[in-house]
Amino acid sequence: MAEFVPVPSFDLVVFGASGDLAMRKLFPSLFHRFKDGQIPRDSRIVGVARQGFTRDAFRASVSEGFATLAKGDPTDPTYQAFLGLIDYVALDATKADDAWPLLVQALAGGEDKVRVFYLSTPPSVFGGICARLREAGLVSAASRVVLEKPLGRDLASAKAINDAVADVFSEDRVYRIDHYLGKETVQNLLVLRFANALFEPVWSRASIDHVQITVAETIGVGSRGDYYDKSGAMRDMVQNHLLQLLCLVAMEPPNSVDADAIRTEKIKVLQALVPIGPKDIESHTVRGQYKAGLVDGEAVKAYFDDLGPGRTSSTETYVALKVEIANWRWAGVPFYLRTGKRLPSRRSEIVVTFRPPPHSLFGKDASPNQLVMRLQPDEGMEMWLQIKEPGPGGLRVKSVPLDLSYDTAFTLRYPDAYERLLMDVVRGNLSLFMRKDEVESAWAWVDQVIGAWEASDASPHHYASGSDGPLQAALLLDRDGRHWRSLV
Ligand code: BG6
Repeated sequence: MAEFVPVPSFDLVVFGASGDLAMRKLFPSLFHRFKDGQIPRDSRIVGVARQGFTRDAFRASVSEGFATLAKGDPTDPTYQAFLGLIDYVALDATKADDAWPLLVQALAGGEDKVRVFYLSTPPSVFGGICARLREAGLVSAASRVVLEKPLGRDLASAKAINDAVADVFSEDRVYRIDHYLGKETVQNLLVLRFANALFEPVWSRASIDHVQITVAETIGVGSRGDYYDKSGAMRDMVQNHLLQLLCLVAMEPPNSVDADAIRTEKIKVLQALVPIGPKDIESHTVRGQYKAGLVDGEAVKAYFDDLGPGRTSSTETYVALKVEIANWRWAGVPFYLRTGKRLPSRRSEIVVTFRPPPHSLFGKDASPNQLVMRLQPDEGMEMWLQIKEPGPGGLRVKSVPLDLSYDTAFTLRYPDAYERLLMDVVRGNLSLFMRKDEVESAWAWVDQVIGAWEASDASPHHYASGSDGPLQAALLLDRDGRHWRSLV
């Protein structure tokens, strides 16, 4: 049975409150937790953005976002009660704006409550906003700050942001979000590995042949072209989501589920990643960019055209990597990572392929065992085993999955990742947030790869929207005698 333990009453200030993330994810997530009775009714949510909304106009726009972006029903009677928690202050938070006293006023009387500042803004203004919060006297003893990704665009900018934030908030009050860590199935990775004694003896180079981590999307860059074109798939997805998944698969068992115990183990993995330098980019990396094509039967435009008329770009919308981890557990076991937009299906999964039996009794029919963790959609797990195909005609070996689908096994509404993460911020649980040195270690590794790409003349390979990505990605595995799990 799901249990909704109420969090303490809190004040939450959302900077960038009229933006897509706030409308699509943050407000809907808060509503669901409110509806489940987890958010006390005297909590306050203050939206901050530059637009000159009145409070009522802002509430109306939150309702509209709930209906259109989150497919929710704002006529739900509880929704009206939820809207009652929401206030709005029009403010340019990067400046000494005259409206700061209005925010001070909106938070009056909450000095002893948990106070959360959620910065859903470009990272370049994180430090500035923190400094203004301090100037305005808003940083109380129970204040904490949430930083949305991307945290910078390289190691140097990430460090500068971390330092500027650290001037105002100590590390135990900084919540760096990677929303993948809030996904149920991603949290389940820890449980699967460390609550089942079955896996540990086979979870290493002795039994595992290789690991594939895929985050495939059907969407293109949509209206986010300006941001995306400066990032590309490596900064937007690999630096955070894919490396986090890799850490959870590869980390050593932590001593406890305390934030620092988990984060310390993840950092060790990041620090053991073998650098990919200029001489390795051909053999270890593939970049792609989508062309026009058909996705889900719908004709879609090329990346260039999504950016706008007459634009060209060498930003990658697809990355495939062969990653190696230099430690005792994983030496020699490749982790193949791939992510891309405009692929044939939306699918995030981790596939662990075990070594084949040392001696094949059954000829070429026997395939290796595979553990497939389906992160989204159709969350679940498959353990592929070999069985004897029933019936006469000799011993025919067949691969079949033991299949656990969450949807059929549990009847719970699937909480969005942000629901869990927002409540964890209020509860003060940092386990699912990234520590400063974790983000910096990930950037240090990613910077080298990007640096090697930049030093070469090569451009991303083109792939048709709706295809599996560039042919070169298939060759990356083919060279090692392996192949990607199909995306359809
Ligand atoms: C975001 C990226 O962090 O994750 C987006 O910026 C991407 O480009 C998104 O589309 C994917 O998240 P999800 O939860 O839909 O898999």
